Amino acid sequence: MANVSTVILGTGSYAPEKILTNAELAAMVDTSDEWIRTRSGIRERHIAAPGEATSDMAVAAAKRALEDAKLTPADVDLLIVATVTPDQTVPAVSCSIQHKLGVPTHAACFDLNAACSGFVYALDTACAMLSSGRYRHALVIGVEKLSAIVDWKDRTTCVLFGDGAGAAVLGISPQAGIGLIGSKLGAYGDSVDLLCIPKGGSTHPTTAESIAAGDHFLKMKGKEVFKIAVRAMEEAARDILEQHHLRADQIGLVIPHQANLRIIEAISQYLELPMERFYVNVDRYGNTSSASIPIALDEARKAGRIKPGDITLFVAFGAGLTYGAALFRW
Ligand code: UT7
Repeated sequence: MANVSTVILGTGSYAPEKILTNAELAAMVDTSDEWIRTRSGIRERHIAAPGEATSDMAVAAAKRALEDAKLTPADVDLLIVATVTPDQTVPAVSCSIQHKLGVPTHAACFDLNAACSGFVYALDTACAMLSSGRYRHALVIGVEKLSAIVDWKDRTTCVLFGDGAGAAVLGISPQAGIGLIGSKLGAYGDSVDLLCIPKGGSTHPTTAESIAAGDHFLKMKGKEVFKIAVRAMEEAARDILEQHHLRADQIGLVIPHQANLRIIEAISQYLELPMERFYVNVDRYGNTSSASIPIALDEARKAGRIKPGDITLFVAFGAGLTYGAALFRW
C-alpha cells in the first residue's frame, strides 16, 4: 500500500501499586540506597501484587491506550506483545490478553521476545504489517513482570528491575511525512550468555538441581553489558539519523530504554545532545525491559513533552544482545 503513514494514535501505561524503595531493598540484600542511586540512578520500582499477572498489567495499559486513541478492543486486528515474562511459556500471552481485553478472534495475536529492545522491534513489526494494507489498527504492548524472574538474593540484579506495562495503538494515515520515519534493528548473538536465564529452556529443562542452583533466575554480567549497550545504542542512533539525513539536534525528544541513568548520560554525551532532550524515569521504575520505552512514551506525551511536528527517537538495547532505534514524526 503506497503513500500511507503509520502513526501512533494513542498510548497508555500501568504500574502496579506496590512501590519497593532502595531502603527496603537494603534490608533484604547487602546493598545501600547510595550504591543503587549512584550506579544506576534508580530510587524505587513497582512490583506486581501477588496474583497480578503479566496479562493483567498489559490489559490495564492497553485499555488506557485504546481510550486515548478513542478506539475500542473491537477495532484491533493486530496485537503484538513484547515481553520476556509471559504468563506461561506456552501459549503466547498475547492470546490471554486478547481474551481478557475482548479483542476479536479475527485479530492476529503473537508475542515477540527481543528483551529490552522488544517495544522498538514490535513497533517496527506493527508498522510494516500496517503498511501492507492488511491490518487497520495495531495494539502494541510492552509488558514485564520481572519480579518473577529475578533472584531476590542476588544484589547484582534484584536492585535493577521492576514491573509494569506500556501500550501504543497504531493505525494508518493518508497524511504524508508523519509517523514512522525509519528504524534500525539488530543483534549481537555472540553475546547471549551476558544476560540470560541459563536453565529451564528446551536445552536444559528445569531440574531440582537447576532450581537449587538458582539457574531459573535472570543472570547478568553488568559491566560487559553496560559497555556494549552504550556503543550499540549510540551506533543505532547515529545510523538511523544518517540514513534519514537528520542531525541529532533535530530530535525533539529521545526516549531511551531505561536501564541505567549512566548509560543515558553517556549517549547524551556521545550524541552531543543535552540531557533535557532525553526522557528519564528510571529513577521511579527501574529497568522494566520491554515496558520501559512505552511507559516513558506515555508519560512524555501526557506531560506535553511531544508536540505535533516533533521528531522522537526511540533507542533500546537488551538481552540477546538486541538493539533497536526508531524515528517518529508526530
Ligand atoms: O536492560 C538490559 C541491559 N542492561 C543493562 O544495560 C545493565 C548494564 N549494566 C549496568 O547498569 C551496571 O553495570 C550495573 C548497575 C549492573 C553495575 O554497575 P557497575 O558500576 O558496573 O558495578 P560493578 O558490577 O562493576 O560492581 C562494582 C562493585 C562490585 O564490588 P567490588 O568487586 O568492586 O568489590 C560489586 O560486587 O559493586 C558491587 N555491587 C554492589 N554493591 C552494593 C554489585 N551490586 C551491588 C549492589 N549493592 N546492589
